[in-house]
Amino acid sequence: MATPTTLDKLEADSTTSHLITVTFRVRRFNPEVAAEASWQDFQLEIDPKERVLDGLHKIKWDQDGSLTFRRSCAHGICGSDAMRINGKNRLACKTLIKDLNPSKPITVEPIKGLTVLKDLVVDMDPFFQAYRDVMPFLITKGNEPTRERLQTAEDRERFDDTTKCILCAACTSSCPVFWNDGQYFGPAAIVNAHRFIFDSRDEAGEQRLEILNDKDGVWRCRTTFNCTDACPRGIEVTKAIQEVKRALITRRY
Ligand code: SF4
Ligand code: F3S
Ligand code: FES
Repeated sequence: MATPTTLDKLEADSTTSHLITVTFRVRRFNPEVAAEASWQDFQLEIDPKERVLDGLHKIKWDQDGSLTFRRSCAHGICGSDAMRINGKNRLACKTLIKDLNPSKPITVEPIKGLTVLKDLVVDMDPFFQAYRDVMPFLITKGNEPTRERLQTAEDRERFDDTTKCILCAACTSSCPVFWNDGQYFGPAAIVNAHRFIFDSRDEAGEQRLEILNDKDGVWRCRTTFNCTDACPRGIEVTKAIQEVKRALITRRY
């Protein structure tokens, strides 16, 4: 029999799982059953290298099929599984159990500031309405070119950070101004306005700035930085908001 190579050993190590027992403390709400939300504990065996999303799947598939949450890609791309995990907004599919001190219960609850529909699912309509309000698409005044609209590398760099948004709402739902009354456009909408305001090919910057000059626009931001801390894409959200404020004052962008 052949002697195992270093590569064989490495592969064996990476596939070996060491299960531990963890408690998931999940905020449950079913309007058909009770008027108030309540916490429910679930014990599960899980490899600490797995993610919170894997834990939620284990609960749903093996213990309680009624547990309700959103997820799609499971790889940090679609933005559908933002939730509050141990009190902080994160994507369940990007959060490893081992990074959460699993010797204590792991709390999982819906993001704040949006109406909870069931368990971890919130009503995203107000969030997407604010997104639609800033016209998140390229606007030009005709003069169709005969080839693609060109842009220098420097001009492209200007809004590179804000192109990374996956509309997960982790930022907006971590903002205390948004918690207050939900009327504030919120950081995600401003990030997506920034993406076009600073695009040299776009011609509707003035319109977008006027939309954000509203009483519920950028001026409501108190530079709290919760949004920047919460963004799973590492976008400098507060910096983008500051740039939009500056553009409103100088009208240069
Ligand atoms: Fe999510 Fe970041 Fe986009 Fe906010 S800016 S919606 S936190 S990806
Ligand atoms: Fe809110 Fe972010 Fe401003 S958390 S107050 S939008 S810096
Ligand atoms: Fe798509 Fe987490 S499931 S980002």
